Amino acid sequence: MKVLITGGAGFIGLHLARHLTDAGHEVVALDRLVPQVHADPAASVARFPGHVVQGDITDEAAWALLERPDAVVHLAAETGTKVVADLYDDSVGDPPVDSYEAVISWDVDQLVTALR
Ligand SMILES: NC(=O)c1ccc[n+]([C@@H]2O[C@H](COP(=O)([O-])OP(=O)(O)OC[C@H]3O[C@@H](n4cnc5c(N)ncnc54)[C@H](O)[C@@H]3O)[C@@H](O)[C@H]2O)c1
Repeated sequence: MKVLITGGAGFIGLHLARHLTDAGHEVVALDRLVPQVHADPAASVARFPGHVVQGDITDEAAWALLERPDAVVHLAAETGTKVVADLYDDSVGDPPVDSYEAVISWDVDQLVTALR
């Protein structure tokens, strides 16, 4: 199974990706590689056991770079405290519309989303 993990280079995404690849699955990450989490982005990419597409889940162009997976695990999130407000202003807390639109257009069977 091919699994797309948004925020895949992050803490949970990396662990999940390792478990999935150990179980024989293919993983792809869509991750913005935010500096507060990834002080060394190249090292984060090298650690991930699959292809990393560097992009923002709110950017339609980033989704266009991806091929249809069998499942999507949505973990991308600003986990810092102040950055969220600076980045997304009053859209904080809204669902990542682009990611759901992509999942719908791909007709993917499984979408798993992290709870905050
Ligand atoms: N770690 C925990 O204990 C915990 C507990 C409950 C819920 N969660 C949730 O699980 C999810 C993952 O948490 P984590 O601990 O792995 O966080 P993390 O900060 O380690 O990983 C988040 C990843 O998302 C990426 N990212 C941030 N904004 C993005 C964007 N706009 N587009 C693409 N990528 C983006 C970051 O670069 C990072 O790699 C989050 O939704 C978090 O709220 C985590």
